[in-house]
Amino acid sequence: MASPAPAPSTPNPETAALEACLNELRDAGSGRTLLELGWIRRVRRREQRAIFELALPRFAASQQQRIVEAARAALLGHDGIEDVQIELAAAQTPPSSGPIGGAGHGTGGHGQVPERQPIPGVQRVIAVSSGKGGVGKSTVAVNLACALAARGLRVGLLDADIYGPNAPTMLGVADRTPEVRGSGNEQVLSPIETCGIAMVSMGLLIQENQPVIWRGPMLNGIIRQFLYQVDWGERDVLVVDLPPGTGDAQLSLAQAVPMAGAVIVTTPQKVSLQDARRGLAMFLQMGVPVLGVIENMSAFIPPDAPDRRYELFGSGGGAQLAEEAGVPLLAQLPLEMPVRTGGDGGQPVVLGAPTSLSARAFLELADRLDALTGAVPAAGRA
Ligand SMILES: Nc1ncnc2c1ncn2[C@@H]1O[C@H](COP(=O)(O)OP(=O)(O)OP(=O)(O)O)[C@@H](O)[C@H]1O
Ligand SMILES: [Mg+2]
Repeated sequence: MASPAPAPSTPNPETAALEACLNELRDAGSGRTLLELGWIRRVRRREQRAIFELALPRFAASQQQRIVEAARAALLGHDGIEDVQIELAAAQTPPSSGPIGGAGHGTGGHGQVPERQPIPGVQRVIAVSSGKGGVGKSTVAVNLACALAARGLRVGLLDADIYGPNAPTMLGVADRTPEVRGSGNEQVLSPIETCGIAMVSMGLLIQENQPVIWRGPMLNGIIRQFLYQVDWGERDVLVVDLPPGTGDAQLSLAQAVPMAGAVIVTTPQKVSLQDARRGLAMFLQMGVPVLGVIENMSAFIPPDAPDRRYELFGSGGGAQLAEEAGVPLLAQLPLEMPVRTGGDGGQPVVLGAPTSLSARAFLELADRLDALTGAVPAAGRA
């Protein structure tokens, strides 16, 4: 596990006693102690005053007040301590914060990547992204998850499109409500089991047609809850469907969890490629491996003439992007009616029309991704 060794402090009994008081303070997301994470460090005593440094990574900034209050309560009164001094340190960047399963990729000089925490029981996290909206990210994420499950893998799907969740509709479970256990920071959400996969989405927690309006920091918290406060169980793969763009959701995910990698979805056309290029560069900059490019809507196959192909959005774009980035072109998915009807009807094409060209392309994509990511030492694996 990539936990930073806390700076070896002087093994002084006074420090040890103060640390013992703070030992139950934990990160709400991962449950790990703040001392173990190095978020509380340089604990010491000066007469009646306890002093420590608080070094929260940016994604945990919302926990600051709770931690400060809890630390004060834990220390005041201990062996004559009358005052608690907290030094706010810059967010830590532990030397081991590189990606798991990302041989050859550094943190790209970003310098702000905090320690990433694996999800217990989840072997590989694969993000489906793109700089552009409407290119088929959710369609790919949902069908990829179903295709991986059809191959016998234990699969989770996290719909990280908090503002515009589509996965529940695409999987036909928009009317279901997941079970929530516990309260406060101890809450655990049970994913919805459907189509052989386990899924969570904001769409399951809000009423249909209700707009979701939150600020960036809250969005970060929700994504972290979806990662660490969901009872994912044992999963070979967790597929994450991201919203369009290179914004807070991408950043939150990439900073929080070690990923086997991201796949970039694009259509063959120029404007889609420009946005996809930005999306791809962002992951590389964050030290997340890019597993390859998926060209969606490569060619239209008319339902009444399945031997015909019309390249509505041009051709060659996916291959060009993949070549520029030095990553594989993982799939060219046709634009087919059953893909769209399957999405709207809640039965992904991989399950609803398994012999269609698209379904076969998704199954091949699943095999390629499984082979690509199964070989790397992914998060949580022994
Ligand atoms: N290969 C395809 N063939 C036919 N229809 C498709 C295909 N891919 C996607 N679609 C349709 O295009 C629309 C947009 O797809 P989707 O919602 O998956 O895109 P997205 O990139 O996730 O969008 P957003 O950026 O809004 O999250 C949907 O109606 C979907 O059914
Ligand atoms: Mg989407």
